[in-house]
Amino acid sequence: MSSYDLIVIGSGPGGYVAASTAGSFGLKVACVEKSKPLGGTCLNIGCIPSKALLVSSEHYHFAKERFAAHGIVAKDISLDLPAMMKRKSDVVTQLNKGVEFLFKKNKVDRYEGTGSLTSANTVEVTDANGKKTVLEGKNILLATGSVSVELPFLKFDGDRIVSSTEALSFDKVPKSLLVVGAGAIGLELGSVWSRLGAEVTVVEFLPNIATGFDQDVASNLQRVLERQGIKFYLNTKVTAAKTGKNSVTLTATQDGKELSLEAEKVLVAVGRKPYTEGLGLEKAGVKLSDKGRVVVNNTWQTSVPNIYAIGDIIDGPMLAHKAEAEAVAVVERIVGKAGQVNYNVIPGVIYTSPEAAVVGLTEKQAKDQGIEIKVGKYNFMANGRALANDAKDGFVKIITNAKTDRVLGAHILGHNASELIAECALLQEFSGSAEDLARTIHAHPTLAEVTKEAAHAASSGH
Ligand code: FAD
Ligand code: NAI
Repeated sequence: MSSYDLIVIGSGPGGYVAASTAGSFGLKVACVEKSKPLGGTCLNIGCIPSKALLVSSEHYHFAKERFAAHGIVAKDISLDLPAMMKRKSDVVTQLNKGVEFLFKKNKVDRYEGTGSLTSANTVEVTDANGKKTVLEGKNILLATGSVSVELPFLKFDGDRIVSSTEALSFDKVPKSLLVVGAGAIGLELGSVWSRLGAEVTVVEFLPNIATGFDQDVASNLQRVLERQGIKFYLNTKVTAAKTGKNSVTLTATQDGKELSLEAEKVLVAVGRKPYTEGLGLEKAGVKLSDKGRVVVNNTWQTSVPNIYAIGDIIDGPMLAHKAEAEAVAVVERIVGKAGQVNYNVIPGVIYTSPEAAVVGLTEKQAKDQGIEIKVGKYNFMANGRALANDAKDGFVKIITNAKTDRVLGAHILGHNASELIAECALLQEFSGSAEDLARTIHAHPTLAEVTKEAAHAASSGH
């Protein structure tokens, strides 16, 4: 039996980062992954392929809708979907190789198969042919991620009723697409297929899209997406579905009224749930919360002290960068260092056009905590670079503690919001003030000047 200092189960952003970090510290490490490619949900069927399609579809849409305004004459712009999909797959494959390289560099042993705990120190790996290998580990890290939530009356059939995985690989543009859930997946993949020509309708049971984001950001994002042709039914609950030969019909209720919505395909994007099936948690004595998440303490130890867990299977936002931060910190703990994660400063982004980004508290959260706040806001419309870039939608909003000027939250709706939010996160990590940001010289002309102006508005009050 091979023995390791650390056995990691799962090779997503949690697992592969932990395994290679542990290897770089000189630990003897194994990583068990049931899928052939390394990289987990994020790299193979999540963050990366969705961003590849988002950028390609945005280029296509921009070429069709905006080239003329830029004085570019391009006739007969048309879509080669197989080529777009191939580029997406090439990006994924290149990154798969990157993870393989990291494993080699940091001497991580890769085991291809499903890992299952057989005790607090042993993992049984079953490969695709049923062959079993038992590994012994001083420490074990669970990083098995999450899977899409299925609605009981809207079960995935891989063709008409699909999850994000299939919606990243349609072989032709559906004439119409119904999206259930106006969260990150629904809005991103809804945007992709709308830009490529599908008639997209999003059904959401809450009164707002993009729950968890600033109210202003969410309502303005909805307005822009509507302008792009996406239709929204909010406060709407889907109650039943009927699959026909060429379409699916959903029954939904909105304000007590019954609606019937029909489309060629339905994307169900109502959240993800932790994946711990077949992991043998009960054999090792690892406890789950009533929400099905693995319970950990503040050093990511489960109820069994030498078994740790990180990423989507534990509490917190299901985000790749959160899993990565936990991966580094948990390995630091295992080698006796003081790894930590600041859960108050985890940025969140929805990669629509414009993008929505958040870090820290919303106005409502700050008020609910009894904090007296100031809010500074500045629009991209008033920024030279935004106008030059043809990217004038949106704004930056900075929330500060009214007494101390400390920045508590930042909310951005705008092009490149995903990049702009990083400086707000850094500022919050350093407990910085709005004045710090307002007095930092930003290059001109840049979109980041809008962040600076919003900070100036918050700190100066004008
Ligand atoms: P995962 O990435 O889910 O990896 C878990 C791995 O464990 C998988 O490879 C699985 O095969 C393996 N596994 C499971 N059980 C076993 C077992 N018993 N034995 C062996 N292997 C096992 N997040 C962002 O931050 N930004 C984004 O832009 C973003 N976009 C997304 C888009 C989509 C369409 C989706 C679905 C998700 C997106 N996410 C995004 C979320 C992100 O993918 C997850 O938060 C992240 O992948 C979680 O990392 P993880 O390491 O916890 O688990
Ligand atoms: P989500 O939790 O972001 O959104 C799901 C939405 O569906 C919510 O608005 C919810 O109110 C709605 N909903 C739930 N049940 C419903 C029903 N029966 N009818 C109508 N609406 C219903 O989940 P999503 O979009 O599936 O994403 C899953 C996870 O993946 C999220 O945790 C997200 O963080 C992560 N992700 C992150 C991305 C990013 O960071 N850009 C991109 C894609 C996914």
